[in-house]
Amino acid sequence: MHESPRAAPRPPASGGVAGLAIRAMHADDIPRVMAIDSLSFPNPWPETTYRFEISENPSAHLLVLEVEAEPLRMQVVGFAGYWFIIDEAHISTLAIHPNWRGRGLAQVLLRALLREAAQRGALSATLEVRRGNRVAQRLYERHGFAVVGRRLGYYSDNSEDALLMTTHEFDFPLADTK
Ligand SMILES: CC(C)(COP(=O)(O)OP(=O)(O)OC[C@H]1O[C@@H](n2cnc3c(N)ncnc32)[C@H](O)[C@@H]1OP(=O)(O)O)[C@@H](O)C(=O)NCCC(=O)NCCS
Repeated sequence: MHESPRAAPRPPASGGVAGLAIRAMHADDIPRVMAIDSLSFPNPWPETTYRFEISENPSAHLLVLEVEAEPLRMQVVGFAGYWFIIDEAHISTLAIHPNWRGRGLAQVLLRALLREAAQRGALSATLEVRRGNRVAQRLYERHGFAVVGRRLGYYSDNSEDALLMTTHEFDFPLADTK
């Protein structure tokens, strides 16, 4: 698996979160990531998918975001992934543990992902997002993503449409600027 960038030294931002790091996901992270996944999505990925993505899919890149939940104890509170295909990063997943939302952590993670993808040569980033998921859409809009299409009935659990969003902007400061 590739090396992932560490987040820059943290200013007192991101809702007061002090220590913070972003790194490549390892197999050891899977139980914790699956717990966050099942709290975040109606159709969480099974363990076999995580194992495949981490160790067998050369296009897949998965990141975890850790915070210093207690002094000197880092805990994974979010994760994100993308498939790098030719010159495009297709964002496959992104979630923050419910207890840690609303502090700018998804923004930190998304920026690290975009930066890493740009370093690999990505010229665009694309994703699908539920039509009703305005929190995620606002996050993406703040990073230059615009709706370029719609996939009707894309989500199998409730037949909700997906909006297809794309950005060509990759150069954001890693620090939370809110
Ligand atoms: C979407 C998701 C990743 C956002 O995570 P998050 O860490 O809460 O996101 P952020 O904190 O970066 O931004 C979300 C909101 O919190 C606000 N926020 C950010 N920092 C904040 C702070 N310090 N204090 C209060 N609010 C803050 C942001 O302004 C934003 O609100 P807005 O959309 O009204 O502007 C999270 O809600 C999640 O995991 N959802 C379930 C999975 C999902 O939908 N993933 C996306 C699939 S496409």
